[in-house]
Amino acid sequence: MKTVFINVIAGDGIGVDVIREGKRVLEAIGSIHGGISFRFNDLPWSCQYYLEQGQGRMMPGDGLKILEDCDSILLGAVGFPGVPDHVSLRGLLLPIRQGFDQYVNMRPIKLLKGLDSPIRVSDPAEIDFVVFRENSEGEYCGVGHIEHEGAPDEKAIQEAWFTRKGTERIIRYAFDYARANKLGNVLSATKSNALNYSMVFWDKIFNEAKAGYPEIKTSSMHVDALAGLFIMKPRVLDVVVASNLFGDILTDLGSAMLGSIGISPSANINPERRYPSMFEPIHGSAPDIAGKGIANPVGTIWCIALMLEHLGLSEMNKLLMEAMEAVLGERTVRTPDLGGTSRTEEVTDAIIAKLGK
Ligand code: NAD
Ligand code: IPM
Ligand code: MN
Repeated sequence: MKTVFINVIAGDGIGVDVIREGKRVLEAIGSIHGGISFRFNDLPWSCQYYLEQGQGRMMPGDGLKILEDCDSILLGAVGFPGVPDHVSLRGLLLPIRQGFDQYVNMRPIKLLKGLDSPIRVSDPAEIDFVVFRENSEGEYCGVGHIEHEGAPDEKAIQEAWFTRKGTERIIRYAFDYARANKLGNVLSATKSNALNYSMVFWDKIFNEAKAGYPEIKTSSMHVDALAGLFIMKPRVLDVVVASNLFGDILTDLGSAMLGSIGISPSANINPERRYPSMFEPIHGSAPDIAGKGIANPVGTIWCIALMLEHLGLSEMNKLLMEAMEAVLGERTVRTPDLGGTSRTEEVTDAIIAKLGK
């Protein structure tokens, strides 16, 4: 029997609700597979932890050391009123992504069977693409300062660092993915009309890289126009590669195109496997519905599928995706964000029931 060891950070708000469901799904997968069991190490790191231990920490000082030795990390959401968002996110989520060099953030945008897009599409297959978001630097490098605080000429400076290494590796990853999956085109999100250093550099690296993939059609589009294209003509998209901030914004838009922000998963990947990768839904802690038992668990369950694939359990990934689509396709058990009346755990129950068949 192989044991898969998972560090779990449920975090805040509905993070707790959806991670509970994710663990139940993994347990069900374990009992179906027979040869695998999942062992969880639940870590209490969260805004509540921050407030309770009173030392200004979202996780212990050696948090990354504690996390390092595992097969994968599963994370719910971080951030809650009472702790400023930049403190909670810079204290927990971002140090993990950056510290473990999870430089690929993969976010599939796919209209699964049974999902209704707010956009008119004649065939669900029209919305099926992947966004690769740079996840280690760029606008999220965290460098900056305030000048003349409190004075009339007060000024905030926020830097964005784009290194050759960091830019090349995410762009190449996107191209390699397109090649491996026989996808016809890779589109780069830019804004080189206004960002005269960072995005001009990004474009230069993209143009250098594309020479190595002559069979793939490429284009660059300013991110504002690209946001429009997502809505107007999503069928032309296969692979989108974007900087940290652009990828963040585009994928909330992408998830909204699937009918809810609670649907979409993300994989924070360290491709070299020097460090564990981390799986988390793209949504946040949703304080407005926290504790009400109505959070959509599909984003997290889809994350579990991505995690299974990453762990080499492709058959289990397929089984879970089919179970999820079967439940969504029946259109009876769904949470209020998708227009239903079901509770979080009822959605999971229905998916687990399909898994067993
Ligand atoms: P949010 O994603 O938490 O919520 C936006 C809206 O979507 C809310 O109306 C919420 O109810 C709804 N929603 C989100 N997930 C849902 C789900 N699974 N089912 C049903 N409805 C869902 O975004 P926000 O309000 O901007 O952020 C709230 C907090 O979460 C902030 O502290 C923010 O920094 C943090 N955040 C954390 C992460 C993360 O940890 N990965 C991601 C995004 C935001
Ligand atoms: C996401 C979130 C995070 C991000 C926040 C909470 C820092 O919005 O995972 O999409 O911007 O990366
Ligand atoms: Mn986001």
